[in-house]
Amino acid sequence: MLDKKLTLNALKNKKGKEKIAAITAYDALMANIFDGEVDVILVGDSLKMSFGGQNSTLGASVDEMIYHARAVSSATQKSFLIADMPFGSYDTRKNALKNALRFYKKCEIDALKVEVGVDKLEIVRALCAEGIALMAHIGLKPQFMRFDGGFKVKGRAENEARELIECAKKMEQAGVFGLLIEGVVADVASQITQSVSVPTIGIGAGVGCDGQILVWSDAFGFFDKFQPKFVRRYFNGKEALQSALRSYVSDVKNEKFPSQNESY
Ligand code: KIV
Repeated sequence: MLDKKLTLNALKNKKGKEKIAAITAYDALMANIFDGEVDVILVGDSLKMSFGGQNSTLGASVDEMIYHARAVSSATQKSFLIADMPFGSYDTRKNALKNALRFYKKCEIDALKVEVGVDKLEIVRALCAEGIALMAHIGLKPQFMRFDGGFKVKGRAENEARELIECAKKMEQAGVFGLLIEGVVADVASQITQSVSVPTIGIGAGVGCDGQILVWSDAFGFFDKFQPKFVRRYFNGKEALQSALRSYVSDVKNEKFPSQNESY
Protein backbone atom coordinates (compact mmCIF):
# COMPACT_ATOMS: atom_id res chain seq x y z
CA MET A 1 0.00 0.00 0.00
CA LEU A 2 1.35 3.44 -0.91
CA ASP A 3 1.55 6.12 1.78
CA LYS A 4 2.32 8.89 -0.71
CA LYS A 5 2.33 9.59 -4.44
CA LEU A 6 4.47 7.12 -6.39
CA THR A 7 6.70 9.24 -8.59
CA LEU A 8 8.29 8.21 -11.87
CA ASN A 9 11.71 7.85 -10.23
CA ALA A 10 10.32 5.80 -7.36
CA LEU A 11 8.59 3.53 -9.88
CA LYS A 12 11.81 3.08 -11.87
CA ASN A 13 13.74 2.39 -8.65
CA LYS A 14 11.58 -0.63 -7.92
CA LYS A 15 13.36 -2.59 -10.64
CA GLY A 16 15.25 -5.47 -9.10
CA LYS A 17 14.06 -4.56 -5.59
CA GLU A 18 10.30 -4.91 -5.40
CA LYS A 19 7.70 -6.22 -7.85
CA ILE A 20 5.33 -3.66 -9.37
CA ALA A 21 1.59 -4.34 -9.08
CA ALA A 22 -0.64 -2.68 -11.68
CA ILE A 23 -4.32 -2.80 -12.61
CA THR A 24 -6.52 -1.03 -15.13
CA ALA A 25 -9.32 1.40 -14.25
CA TYR A 26 -11.75 3.22 -16.48
CA ASP A 27 -13.71 5.40 -14.08
CA ALA A 28 -13.55 7.28 -10.80
CA LEU A 29 -15.45 4.59 -8.86
CA MET A 30 -12.85 1.91 -9.49
CA ALA A 31 -9.93 4.35 -9.28
CA ASN A 32 -11.16 5.32 -5.82
CA ILE A 33 -11.00 1.66 -4.75
CA PHE A 34 -7.62 0.92 -6.38
CA ASP A 35 -5.72 4.15 -5.67
CA GLY A 36 -2.81 3.60 -3.30
CA GLU A 37 -3.41 -0.16 -3.19
CA VAL A 38 -1.51 -0.71 -6.44
CA ASP A 39 1.65 0.94 -7.72
CA VAL A 40 0.25 1.70 -11.16
CA ILE A 41 -3.21 2.35 -12.56
CA LEU A 42 -3.60 2.13 -16.34
CA VAL A 43 -6.48 3.70 -18.21
CA GLY A 44 -6.22 1.01 -20.86
CA ASP A 45 -7.98 1.05 -24.20
CA SER A 46 -9.19 -2.43 -23.16
CA LEU A 47 -12.08 -0.36 -21.85
CA LYS A 48 -13.45 -0.54 -25.37
CA MET A 49 -13.84 -4.32 -24.91
CA SER A 50 -14.89 -4.69 -21.28
CA PHE A 51 -16.65 -1.39 -20.65
CA GLY A 52 -17.73 -0.84 -24.28
CA GLY A 53 -18.61 -4.42 -25.23
CA GLN A 54 -16.65 -4.35 -28.50
CA ASN A 55 -14.57 -7.21 -29.90
CA SER A 56 -11.35 -5.20 -30.05
CA THR A 57 -9.72 -2.04 -28.73
CA LEU A 58 -9.49 -0.50 -32.21
CA GLY A 59 -12.50 1.78 -31.96
CA ALA A 60 -11.22 3.82 -29.00
CA SER A 61 -10.83 7.52 -29.80
CA VAL A 62 -8.61 10.15 -28.23
CA ASP A 63 -11.68 11.97 -26.89
CA GLU A 64 -13.01 8.80 -25.25
CA MET A 65 -9.64 8.01 -23.69
CA ILE A 66 -9.33 11.56 -22.39
CA TYR A 67 -12.84 11.34 -20.91
CA HIS A 68 -11.93 8.13 -19.03
CA ALA A 69 -8.46 9.37 -18.05
CA ARG A 70 -10.00 12.48 -16.51
CA ALA A 71 -12.48 10.38 -14.55
CA VAL A 72 -9.75 8.08 -13.25
CA SER A 73 -7.35 10.90 -12.45
CA SER A 74 -10.02 12.65 -10.39
CA ALA A 75 -9.82 9.73 -7.93
CA THR A 76 -6.12 8.86 -8.20
CA GLN A 77 -3.81 10.59 -5.77
CA LYS A 78 -1.13 8.02 -4.95
CA SER A 79 -0.79 5.40 -7.67
CA PHE A 80 1.26 6.21 -10.77
CA LEU A 81 -1.27 6.89 -13.52
CA ILE A 82 -0.75 5.91 -17.16
CA ALA A 83 -3.21 6.32 -20.06
CA ASP A 84 -3.26 4.49 -23.39
CA MET A 85 -2.98 6.38 -26.65
CA PRO A 86 -5.58 4.70 -28.88
CA PHE A 87 -5.14 3.08 -32.27
CA GLY A 88 -4.40 5.60 -35.03
CA SER A 89 -3.55 8.46 -32.67
CA TYR A 90 0.24 8.09 -33.09
CA ASP A 91 0.39 6.98 -36.73
CA THR A 92 2.68 9.88 -37.67
CA ARG A 93 5.15 11.96 -35.67
CA LYS A 94 2.91 15.01 -36.07
CA ASN A 95 -0.28 13.25 -34.92
CA ALA A 96 1.53 11.55 -32.05
CA LEU A 97 2.83 14.87 -30.71
CA LYS A 98 -0.48 16.65 -31.21
CA ASN A 99 -2.50 13.93 -29.47
CA ALA A 100 0.00 13.28 -26.66
CA LEU A 101 0.06 16.99 -25.85
CA ARG A 102 -3.75 17.03 -25.79
CA PHE A 103 -3.73 14.20 -23.24
CA TYR A 104 -1.11 15.95 -21.14
CA LYS A 105 -2.95 19.25 -21.12
CA LYS A 106 -6.43 17.82 -20.51
CA CYS A 107 -5.70 15.08 -17.93
CA GLU A 108 -3.68 14.85 -14.75
CA ILE A 109 -1.86 11.70 -15.86
CA ASP A 110 1.74 10.75 -15.12
CA ALA A 111 2.50 9.02 -18.40
CA LEU A 112 1.23 7.67 -21.71
CA LYS A 113 1.53 4.21 -23.27
CA VAL A 114 1.84 3.32 -26.96
CA GLU A 115 1.86 -0.08 -28.70
CA VAL A 116 5.02 -0.08 -30.77
CA GLY A 117 7.68 -1.95 -32.69
CA VAL A 118 11.02 -0.73 -34.08
CA ASP A 119 9.19 0.83 -37.04
CA LYS A 120 7.82 3.43 -34.59
CA LEU A 121 11.19 4.34 -33.02
CA GLU A 122 11.23 7.84 -34.52
CA ILE A 123 7.81 8.57 -33.07
CA VAL A 124 8.80 7.21 -29.66
CA ARG A 125 11.96 9.35 -29.71
CA ALA A 126 9.99 12.46 -30.70
CA LEU A 127 7.44 11.97 -27.89
CA CYS A 128 10.16 11.45 -25.27
CA ALA A 129 12.09 14.48 -26.57
CA GLU A 130 8.95 16.57 -26.10
CA GLY A 131 8.87 15.62 -22.41
CA ILE A 132 6.23 12.90 -22.49
CA ALA A 133 6.87 10.11 -19.95
CA LEU A 134 6.28 7.18 -22.26
CA MET A 135 5.79 3.45 -21.76
CA ALA A 136 6.29 1.17 -24.77
CA HIS A 137 3.85 -1.75 -25.08
CA ILE A 138 5.59 -4.59 -26.95
CA GLY A 139 4.92 -8.22 -27.82
CA LEU A 140 1.25 -8.97 -28.41
CA LYS A 141 -0.21 -5.60 -29.37
CA PRO A 142 -4.03 -5.70 -29.26
CA GLN A 143 -4.20 -2.65 -31.56
CA PHE A 144 -2.59 -4.86 -34.24
CA MET A 145 -4.96 -7.81 -33.80
CA ARG A 146 -6.51 -7.44 -37.27
CA PHE A 147 -3.08 -7.13 -38.89
CA ASP A 148 -1.85 -10.17 -36.92
CA GLY A 149 -5.02 -12.18 -37.57
CA GLY A 150 -5.96 -12.44 -33.88
CA PHE A 151 -4.38 -12.21 -30.45
CA LYS A 152 -1.15 -14.16 -31.05
CA VAL A 153 1.47 -15.02 -28.41
CA LYS A 154 4.92 -13.72 -29.40
CA GLY A 155 8.47 -14.97 -29.00
CA ARG A 156 7.97 -18.66 -29.76
CA ALA A 157 10.26 -18.56 -32.79
CA GLU A 158 13.93 -17.81 -32.18
CA ASN A 159 14.08 -14.86 -34.61
CA GLU A 160 10.93 -13.34 -33.10
CA ALA A 161 12.42 -13.65 -29.60
CA ARG A 162 15.65 -11.98 -30.75
CA GLU A 163 13.70 -9.16 -32.43
CA LEU A 164 11.68 -8.54 -29.28
CA ILE A 165 14.81 -8.26 -27.12
CA GLU A 166 16.36 -5.86 -29.67
CA CYS A 167 13.15 -3.86 -29.82
CA ALA A 168 13.10 -3.50 -26.02
CA LYS A 169 16.70 -2.25 -25.96
CA LYS A 170 15.99 0.27 -28.72
CA MET A 171 12.91 1.54 -26.91
CA GLU A 172 15.01 2.10 -23.80
CA GLN A 173 17.60 3.99 -25.86
CA ALA A 174 14.80 6.08 -27.40
CA GLY A 175 13.84 7.24 -23.90
CA VAL A 176 10.89 5.19 -22.62
CA PHE A 177 10.70 4.87 -18.84
CA GLY A 178 9.27 1.36 -18.93
CA LEU A 179 7.96 -1.49 -21.03
CA LEU A 180 4.67 -3.31 -20.96
CA ILE A 181 5.22 -6.83 -22.26
CA GLU A 182 2.04 -8.59 -23.34
CA GLY A 183 1.55 -12.18 -24.53
CA VAL A 184 5.22 -13.12 -24.71
CA VAL A 185 6.74 -16.52 -23.88
CA ALA A 186 7.85 -16.34 -20.23
CA ASP A 187 11.51 -17.08 -20.89
CA VAL A 188 11.75 -14.36 -23.55
CA ALA A 189 10.01 -11.81 -21.30
CA SER A 190 12.57 -12.65 -18.57
CA GLN A 191 15.41 -12.12 -21.02
CA ILE A 192 13.94 -8.75 -22.05
CA THR A 193 13.63 -7.77 -18.38
CA GLN A 194 17.29 -8.64 -17.80
CA SER A 195 18.41 -6.80 -20.96
CA VAL A 196 17.02 -3.38 -20.03
CA SER A 197 17.48 -1.08 -17.05
CA VAL A 198 13.90 0.23 -17.14
CA PRO A 199 11.08 -1.70 -15.41
CA THR A 200 8.96 -4.19 -17.33
CA ILE A 201 5.33 -4.88 -16.50
CA GLY A 202 3.96 -8.12 -17.88
CA ILE A 203 0.57 -9.47 -18.81
CA GLY A 204 0.60 -13.04 -20.05
CA ALA A 205 4.40 -12.82 -19.98
CA GLY A 206 5.37 -14.95 -16.97
CA VAL A 207 6.73 -14.21 -13.55
CA GLY A 208 10.14 -12.90 -14.66
CA CYS A 209 8.91 -9.36 -15.45
CA ASP A 210 9.48 -6.55 -12.94
CA GLY A 211 5.74 -6.33 -12.36
CA GLN A 212 2.33 -7.59 -13.45
CA ILE A 213 -0.83 -5.97 -14.71
CA LEU A 214 -4.35 -7.34 -15.13
CA VAL A 215 -7.48 -5.83 -16.60
CA TRP A 216 -9.65 -5.13 -13.56
CA SER A 217 -12.85 -6.62 -14.96
CA ASP A 218 -10.98 -9.87 -15.79
CA ALA A 219 -9.25 -10.10 -12.41
CA PHE A 220 -12.43 -9.48 -10.44
CA GLY A 221 -14.82 -11.56 -12.51
CA PHE A 222 -17.00 -8.92 -14.13
CA PHE A 223 -16.00 -9.78 -17.71
CA ASP A 224 -17.09 -13.28 -18.70
CA LYS A 225 -17.17 -13.21 -22.51
CA PHE A 226 -13.89 -15.16 -22.50
CA GLN A 227 -11.03 -15.76 -20.06
CA PRO A 228 -7.48 -15.77 -21.38
CA LYS A 229 -5.11 -18.40 -19.88
CA PHE A 230 -3.05 -15.72 -18.11
CA VAL A 231 -5.97 -14.30 -16.10
CA ARG A 232 -6.32 -15.27 -12.46
CA ARG A 233 -9.75 -14.47 -10.99
CA TYR A 234 -9.55 -12.94 -7.52
CA PHE A 235 -13.27 -12.32 -7.11
CA ASN A 236 -16.53 -13.47 -8.67
CA GLY A 237 -17.75 -9.93 -9.23
CA LYS A 238 -20.63 -10.74 -11.52
CA GLU A 239 -22.09 -13.36 -9.17
CA ALA A 240 -21.57 -11.22 -6.07
CA LEU A 241 -23.22 -8.20 -7.67
CA GLN A 242 -26.10 -10.22 -9.13
CA SER A 243 -26.77 -11.74 -5.73
CA ALA A 244 -26.89 -8.26 -4.14
CA LEU A 245 -29.09 -7.06 -7.01
CA ARG A 246 -31.52 -9.95 -6.44
CA SER A 247 -31.78 -9.00 -2.75
CA TYR A 248 -32.66 -5.46 -3.78
CA VAL A 249 -35.24 -6.62 -6.32
CA SER A 250 -36.78 -8.98 -3.78
CA ASP A 251 -36.98 -6.22 -1.14
CA VAL A 252 -38.70 -3.92 -3.64
CA LYS A 253 -41.19 -6.59 -4.71
CA ASN A 254 -41.98 -7.52 -1.10
CA GLU A 255 -42.23 -3.91 0.08
CA LYS A 256 -39.25 -4.40 2.41
CA PHE A 257 -37.50 -1.43 0.83
CA PRO A 258 -37.63 1.40 1.68
CA SER A 259 -38.12 1.12 5.46
CA GLN A 260 -39.40 3.94 7.61
CA ASN A 261 -35.80 4.91 8.40
CA GLU A 262 -35.12 5.20 4.69
CA SER A 263 -38.13 7.42 4.13
CA TYR A 264 -38.86 11.11 4.81
O1 KIV B 1 -5.53 -1.69 -22.58
C1 KIV B 1 -5.12 -2.37 -21.65
O2 KIV B 1 -5.82 -2.58 -20.64
C2 KIV B 1 -3.78 -2.92 -21.73
C3 KIV B 1 -3.54 -4.20 -21.02
C4 KIV B 1 -2.64 -5.06 -21.75
C5 KIV B 1 -3.07 -4.02 -19.64
O3 KIV B 1 -2.94 -2.38 -22.38
